[in-house]
Amino acid sequence: MPIVNRIGEFAEDMKTWRRWIHAHPELKLDCHETAAFVVEKLKAFGVDEIHEGIATSGVVAIIEGQGPRDENGGPTIGLRADMDALPMAERTGLDHASTVPGRMHACGHDGHTAMLLGAARYLAETRAFRGRVALIFQPAEEDIGGGRIMVEAGILDRFGISEVYALHNDPDVAEGAFSTTPGPIMAAVDTFRVQITGKGGHAAYPHEAVDPIPPALAIASACQTIVSRNHDPAQELVVSVTMIHAGSADNVIAEGAYVAGTVRTFAREVRDMVERRLGEIVAGSAAAYGVDAALDYERSYPPVVNAAAQVEKAAAVAREVAGEARVSTTRAPEMGAEDFAYFLEARPGAFLFLGQGGGAGVHHPEYDFNDEISPVGASFFARLVETLQPV
Ligand code: NI
Repeated sequence: MPIVNRIGEFAEDMKTWRRWIHAHPELKLDCHETAAFVVEKLKAFGVDEIHEGIATSGVVAIIEGQGPRDENGGPTIGLRADMDALPMAERTGLDHASTVPGRMHACGHDGHTAMLLGAARYLAETRAFRGRVALIFQPAEEDIGGGRIMVEAGILDRFGISEVYALHNDPDVAEGAFSTTPGPIMAAVDTFRVQITGKGGHAAYPHEAVDPIPPALAIASACQTIVSRNHDPAQELVVSVTMIHAGSADNVIAEGAYVAGTVRTFAREVRDMVERRLGEIVAGSAAAYGVDAALDYERSYPPVVNAAAQVEKAAAVAREVAGEARVSTTRAPEMGAEDFAYFLEARPGAFLFLGQGGGAGVHHPEYDFNDEISPVGASFFARLVETLQPV
């Protein structure tokens, strides 16, 4: 079976919704207009419950299926879409281009929302599944971590959600093809910032100052040995020093120096090791050079780690929708990040890419979501529910 016929019938509606959302991009937690649009559609579809205002503008809708229930009223599968756009100017010149200067749906979250709305419409009409489905529309994927806030708000427990799934479009994958992998698929992102404080002075009298530049260079250089000397070469790790700032004149020894960078990891023990080694390098260098050095190590999104069993189930449904040859479960993990990670830390599930067959890359000013894939994504979500929770 390719796409669900009934969903194919309203493909034009999904396109209209997607383009409206595209023209009205919102940022971070402030996705109120988008959420209102989503709620209006969900009401029209006749879903059973709508919960608004989670993580400021997030929405969770419940559709009841049929048949016997477990003690929590489930089983309940969670399907997630993100609603936020990016703070950048659109350069597509399309009729449905952003109407807000400096904001743009350049990551296809407009399409993700439209696909989940399409699945909601079908599932509310047909209800050919057992238990419940929870449709999760979150703000702030690009920044802040709206997914983390929704998980911390307790939606998974509150609605008895036992498994979670999400789709992200990918211009580099063939149109309508699926691409995923068990285990890590996107990296954890951390930021480190080191503020070094020495003692400024005249460059001709260095013995009367404490120069912060030698320890800054020592720290930046020692950071490279975390990857090359402390780390198993068979595992992925990036440590990049991206900033060194110090000084204002050629005859002045600076008062302080600043070193900062980014760390990308997949394994928790690697992430812990990098944070520990950075602490040791900063403290050791400060002592060696007689300066004060403060490390701020900020853990941002965790890695996106797919559960093997859920990838298998999702891939089986994807093969049914897209065809055997158009589903890959051997995608190489990449060093970008995604806040669906927080859902996958809390529940087993799978994150899949859905190919949109070329065009500008995500986060590019000429990017646009390919509406042709909306029926494929909506059919995947719908058949996933029917297959995992059969009546
Ligand atoms: Ni995205």
